[in-house]
Amino acid sequence: MSNVHVDVGVPRNTEEQEALAEILSRSLFFPPLSQHPWIETEGAENLRVVRVEGKVLGGLSVQDMGLWLRGDCLRVGAVRCVGVAPEARSQKLGRTLMTECLAEMRDRNIPLSALYPATQPVYRYAGYEQAGYRVVYELPLHAINVRERGVVLQPHDLSDLTLIKKLYNQQAQLTSGHLDRNEWMWARLQRTRNPQTPALAVVAWQDGVPQGYMLYINKPPASLDNFVGQLIVADWVSLTPEATDAFWTFLSDHRSVNDKVQWCGSPNDTKMIRLANQDNSVKAHFCWLLRIVDFKAAMEQRSYSSSLEGELHLDMDDACCPWNEGRWVCTFSGGKVSVSPGGSGRMKLSIRALASMYSGFLSPWEGRVAHGFDADDESLTLAAQAFAGPTPWMPEIF
Ligand SMILES: CC(C)(COP(=O)(O)OP(=O)(O)OC[C@H]1O[C@@H](n2cnc3c(N)ncnc32)[C@H](O)[C@@H]1OP(=O)(O)O)[C@@H](O)C(=O)NCCC(=O)NCCS
Repeated sequence: MSNVHVDVGVPRNTEEQEALAEILSRSLFFPPLSQHPWIETEGAENLRVVRVEGKVLGGLSVQDMGLWLRGDCLRVGAVRCVGVAPEARSQKLGRTLMTECLAEMRDRNIPLSALYPATQPVYRYAGYEQAGYRVVYELPLHAINVRERGVVLQPHDLSDLTLIKKLYNQQAQLTSGHLDRNEWMWARLQRTRNPQTPALAVVAWQDGVPQGYMLYINKPPASLDNFVGQLIVADWVSLTPEATDAFWTFLSDHRSVNDKVQWCGSPNDTKMIRLANQDNSVKAHFCWLLRIVDFKAAMEQRSYSSSLEGELHLDMDDACCPWNEGRWVCTFSGGKVSVSPGGSGRMKLSIRALASMYSGFLSPWEGRVAHGFDADDESLTLAAQAFAGPTPWMPEIF
């Protein structure tokens, strides 16, 4: 494709939006626009298309959200709906699309990008790497031994999300990897694919103080002959052990006509610590990818332990985003870091290797084994102190 004109941009008109919709329906099983107006819900301004000689051959969507990392919230470009027309694949259009979108994110002061990959090579080329988890668990309801009713669960009307959002944000700040959900994401959580099974909500109250909530779907039995439903938890925030116990009790109270519950959590799910036994199974274990779009901003917008003092000398390899390339000195002091060019480059690594350590997904020692970079012990120890934190996990897929 060396002599052809390739460009990336916002769809110029309805025809270009429809061309993208048609490609995504062939690539990602999207329903026709007549059945589901996804461009409207996605927001046409969030779409980007790649054109070859003016013809749309692929595209994606970037949702502007936040990503919570150990108490700090940084802007993240959440990339979804990536697709290239089947007849135009493996001609580097996917790479071009990603590279151009990353440059745009940097111009818009978005220091991070995240996505769930259906395939990894194209995103790894663009500098994304595994940096957090989404684990889907399943548990037979009869295996729940908890019976605690001290915390009261009350049904909650989902037409008002004020309290739900407040509780979610409280949990997001206590962990790493939760999104600061935008309106698109909240609306998506409220919707359900099947109008027969609306999302229900309960809030946990103790002494008039809300302690958490659960958004769930009570999936009905397939037939009268096999009258067994399933509970699918779409969103679960539990801020205290007492609230967790109350939620387990609530789930267990469904056991006469439901056999299982499904929910999302961290690989070391704190909710399961309350159960007597490990009767759960893992239905899905999927890692999301992170891209450090602007290294200096991504470092400086986080806070660090106030006792952390020292200099981390990095030598960064980033072919796709050249503004991150080269030597940098990160000077940690008073709970902050200042990043300036130069230094001895004692830790020589790729931006991908850094992404998986930056979120706390891999320790620097694990990162070195996984990515094979050079670093002395002092640099590894300092990086470990800088990035240590809760296991990064995300409750939703996007
Ligand atoms: C994934 C996709 C967007 C890549 O677009 P593309 O224009 O073909 O990508 P590129 O030409 O830039 O290729 C990048 C690399 O990804 C790999 N790749 C491309 N398509 C792939 C696929 N469907 N499965 C696995 N790997 C793939 C290729 O190996 C290529 O590396 P190579 O050049 O060393 O062979 C495109 O294949 C697609 O639309 N697939 C179906 C929908 C999908 O999976 N979307 C991703 C949702 S997260």
